Amino acid sequence: MTEQLRCMGVSCMKRVITYGTFDLFHRGHYNILKRARALGDYLIVGVTSESYDIERGKLNVRDSLLHRIENVRKTGFADEIIIEEYQGQKVSDILKYNIDVLVLGSDWRGKFDYLKNYCEVVYLERTKNISSTQLRGEGRTFNIGVVTDSTWDGGIVWESKYVSGLHTERVCSENEQTAQKFCEKYELDTYGTDFASFVSDVEVVYVHVKEEDRAEYVSKCLYAGRHVICDAPITRDPSHLRELFDLAARKQIILFERITLAYLRAFNQLVWQAHAGLIGRILSVKCTVSAEFFEGGKDLPETAVYPLCAVIKLLGSGWTDIQTSEVEDEGEDCAYKLITIRYPEALACIEIGSGLDMENEFVVLGSNGRITIPNDWWNTGYFEARVLGADPLKRFCFNFEGNGLRYLLQEMMIMMSDRRTTNARLFSQESVELTKMLQKIL
Ligand code: CTP
Repeated sequence: MTEQLRCMGVSCMKRVITYGTFDLFHRGHYNILKRARALGDYLIVGVTSESYDIERGKLNVRDSLLHRIENVRKTGFADEIIIEEYQGQKVSDILKYNIDVLVLGSDWRGKFDYLKNYCEVVYLERTKNISSTQLRGEGRTFNIGVVTDSTWDGGIVWESKYVSGLHTERVCSENEQTAQKFCEKYELDTYGTDFASFVSDVEVVYVHVKEEDRAEYVSKCLYAGRHVICDAPITRDPSHLRELFDLAARKQIILFERITLAYLRAFNQLVWQAHAGLIGRILSVKCTVSAEFFEGGKDLPETAVYPLCAVIKLLGSGWTDIQTSEVEDEGEDCAYKLITIRYPEALACIEIGSGLDMENEFVVLGSNGRITIPNDWWNTGYFEARVLGADPLKRFCFNFEGNGLRYLLQEMMIMMSDRRTTNARLFSQESVELTKMLQKIL
């Protein structure tokens, strides 16, 4: 607002706004709030919400939102505190609160110049030698190594670039040529064929080999004390999988199956909404998937893992029966498999096709409505719900980028930083149950 306009209005107060996470509140935070307040008569401080921080890649925030708000309040500089919940909120705040000056630290210099059309934008010099990152003792990078038998990386190199603190730097393959080609293609630091020396140089191993070799590599990595992400299924033997998870737990390391669906915010929210009764009692889960739609085209076990994960997340492990039927047409090179899973009070129905034009839809039917992911439900940032007798359609939208792997990597990064090994997104008993189901349908 210009000086003239402000003075024509109700008040001549100069209104300032600034934003931050304010984790582990320190003197840098205190200084910027003090200086921001001195630039005007009324200071609004936007404190970032937990989910917004995760969305923008700030993963290891220690203090709760309430604690961070309380620390800002205690300085006495903030006349009002608001929560910053989404990208793009700054423009609406500036208009909503009649802001004259937006204050940002010098680390943001230039990034918010586009807001100069709305108010004055001031970048204040950061206080030297202090930051929340430093206080959290971060700055440490975990190196990822890929063990592979192909020259395709499954997206790990690109996706790990989006998670601060992770870096994919080496590759190992029994075949030297494969390792070399992989290394050149993805511009990694080193390649080799000696697994023992490879594993001693990385903190996390991504096991990206054909199904029959996975469990052995996982076991070797766990014995070497390395965190592991492995393509799913790791094995078709549930008791072997149980042993691997137990070994990881004894060694206090993380073992993740690569089932990215379990780490998507939209999918977790969908499960939560369904369990909280948004559509009444869950009667059925129906999902359709065409094998070719997964990156690179997956075989039946790798494809089936995703719908089985969805079913377990929604209906739990108490299934009583599984039936499968299939139709194949070798001449036309297409196949269709129908899997029905019975629960005491619900049914799941999975359709898997290859060489067919399927709809890739996901529907949870409840006694009071239904939740739908319209297409490619395994890589989703969106779902919608139709509740009987309520507004026509509720839409739920979440950030989703890449092939979904970065969200799994983010969760792993948080767990490594917190030294936590229990995976709350996909419990080991859920993975074992999934393998039992898989055994039945193959
Ligand atoms: N700030 C500052 N001087 C510092 C640290 C932060 O002036 N030494 C400012 C930032 O520029 C920002 C505000 O304080 O305007 C809130 O910053 P925040 O990101 O919460 O703090 P950081 O210490 O930078 O946190 P992190 O290390 O997690 O990025």
